[in-house]
Amino acid sequence: MPKNKNKAHVIVVGNEKGGSGKSTTAMHIVVSLMKRNFNISVVDLDSRQKSLARYLENRLNYAEKHKLQLSIPDVYILSKSQEGDIDNMMFEDTKNFTDLIEELHKDSDFILIDCPGTDSNLARLAHSVADTLITPINDSFVDLDLLATVNSDTYKVEKLSLYSEMVWDARKHRAMTDRGTIDWIVMRNRVSNLDAKNKRRVHDALKELQKRVSFRYIQGLAERVIYRELFPKGLTLVDFPDTEEKVTLSHIAARQEIRRLMSDLGLPGWNEVKGVKAETRFSA
Ligand SMILES: Nc1ncnc2c1ncn2[C@@H]1O[C@H](COP(=O)(O)OP(=O)(O)OP(=O)(O)O)[C@@H](O)[C@H]1O
Ligand SMILES: [Mg+2]
Repeated sequence: MPKNKNKAHVIVVGNEKGGSGKSTTAMHIVVSLMKRNFNISVVDLDSRQKSLARYLENRLNYAEKHKLQLSIPDVYILSKSQEGDIDNMMFEDTKNFTDLIEELHKDSDFILIDCPGTDSNLARLAHSVADTLITPINDSFVDLDLLATVNSDTYKVEKLSLYSEMVWDARKHRAMTDRGTIDWIVMRNRVSNLDAKNKRRVHDALKELQKRVSFRYIQGLAERVIYRELFPKGLTLVDFPDTEEKVTLSHIAARQEIRRLMSDLGLPGWNEVKGVKAETRFSA
């Protein structure tokens, strides 16, 4: 249920690995929340690719073309400062980021920040204000390396990664500034049903990792062609069957997966909502 007007819940979707599904996941979370009448503001920190902003732009175009009333949030693209020396740039980044987030807190229930797949000052700032941090990882040991180096036989953690250290710093920062905590959720993405052995191994390794790096580990999304196909139309699985698109079994399975993801995230108010906003068509 839409709630406060002074403090939003900040969701950050991040990791330092490109192409792990951050923007795709972010888009599905945004539309899911909007469908339940939450007021959400989107910040795209990937000012080079702007994938999430472009996904939303495609949505706007699709809605206009097909005369559909699709929920579309306000989106802000924040670029890295390029002015002066490093200290100057850090100062500018911090000011721009802090000012924007402060403003968005005033009238959003949720602020969703999509990070680029590289380390940057803006991404660090985003992690330090997260209430919920979602890190999608592709289902392989290459991606697990993003969290820590694990022993190849026992899966015991040998060394934390730079990214895990960064989240650790962000958590310390949150604790010191407002005594807040970060709910860090690692979600598997592009899980293949064809490789049960790998699936099991990654699961075992993640279970072991959880003991050392404190995160919640959730099932996430399967590898499905449908996730790749929706981008040009700006649609999500949550939009079906409110569009003119044909609904297939794959859509239904994927929609279930998104529902489970939303429930697993445990965002404030999500499980309390009773009335779900229905998408309606513009009359032509
Ligand atoms: N579950 C999935 N099944 C199939 N394809 C997927 C899935 N999730 C994401 N993809 C595809 O993988 C590619 C990368 O996804 P996405 O852009 O969401 O990743 P990203 O982490 O935001 O990347 P970047 O680091 O470049 O910002 C896209 O082509 C997307 O359609
Ligand atoms: Mg992205």
